[in-house]
Amino acid sequence: MPDLSLFDLTGKKALVTGGAVGIGRGCALALAGAGADVAIVDLDAKTGPKTAEEIKALGRDSLFVPCDVTSKDQVQAMVARVVGQFGRLDIAVNNAGIGILGADEELEQADWDKVIAVNQTGVFLCCQAEAQQFLRQKPIEGKIINTASMSATICNCNASYNSSKAAVVQMTRMLAAEWGTYNINVNCVSPSYLLTPMHASTPVVVRERIRELTPLGYVERPEDLFGAVMFLASAASNYVTGLDLVVDGGHTLNAWLTPLGRAVPPRVNPEEEIVQLKHDLDALGFDYDADGINPDVHPEVAGAFKAAFGTE
Ligand SMILES: NC(=O)c1ccc[n+]([C@@H]2O[C@H](COP(=O)([O-])OP(=O)(O)OC[C@H]3O[C@@H](n4cnc5c(N)ncnc54)[C@H](O)[C@@H]3O)[C@@H](O)[C@H]2O)c1
Repeated sequence: MPDLSLFDLTGKKALVTGGAVGIGRGCALALAGAGADVAIVDLDAKTGPKTAEEIKALGRDSLFVPCDVTSKDQVQAMVARVVGQFGRLDIAVNNAGIGILGADEELEQADWDKVIAVNQTGVFLCCQAEAQQFLRQKPIEGKIINTASMSATICNCNASYNSSKAAVVQMTRMLAAEWGTYNINVNCVSPSYLLTPMHASTPVVVRERIRELTPLGYVERPEDLFGAVMFLASAASNYVTGLDLVVDGGHTLNAWLTPLGRAVPPRVNPEEEIVQLKHDLDALGFDYDADGINPDVHPEVAGAFKAAFGTE
């Protein structure tokens, strides 16, 4: 008989970067729900502490650690601070990431550098500091989960974002091969278009298009990653390493020329898609309309979609 306590994280100590809102907060809720104490690591010192309080309200220990993942010194100090409170580290989700929209032929080098610094260098610096901590502990072992993206394997944004995510996937594979000998599992998750503040300025027509092109028929939510995170953080994945776990509702499988028809309604309706997005916009202090949209959160995203889809 399989032992279902395989997924239990009671007593485990975790950290999540970019954990204040969005996917990071979703990962933190999943870990805390499975029993772990979870540190929230983020640049945003206003929203991050609120998320740490949410974790405490679930009956787990938590703390907020302000940190810019592009700084090696800050990352090293961040891991030390988490271990100072928790006593050890078992699970790390390296999720902080940014995208800067724009045509590649006009890209400023400063924008390229920013994206690579957070998405690629930042993930590496975190993996390195976390592995160093795992090596100081007895027994030596640990679980690292990096947030990549379907953008690692399809072409949907621009060269800086997509290549930084491809780098996360290959970095994950390389570190998994190196650190497997220390019983450290390194895996990544790749979401599709997911309703976080990063997508708060995506118009309704675009969400409808995503539904049409996604076999499972709804726009992804932070909670759609819960199962993947609990699996990769727990003993259930002890023999899994170097995996890019794509969680995309089948979006990247879809190569049909005709729009997908539905046989049955999707499991999630448009109101349910935006529950966590509204939570995050409240926490960040943004207003939103009935569809959870505010073009001012990311005006460049709103502008790009307006140009592409001819929407207001
Ligand atoms: N939303 C999507 O559609 C989507 C899809 C696939 C992958 N992703 C990836 O998931 C991750 C999280 O995305 P999200 O949509 O939740 O983003 P978000 O912008 O809603 O939240 C990102 C969080 O990371 C923090 N952050 C940014 N730079 C940081 C830094 N240098 N140091 C520490 N914290 C920093 C921000 O303050 C914010 O709290 C990113 O790596 C992103 O590329 C997002």
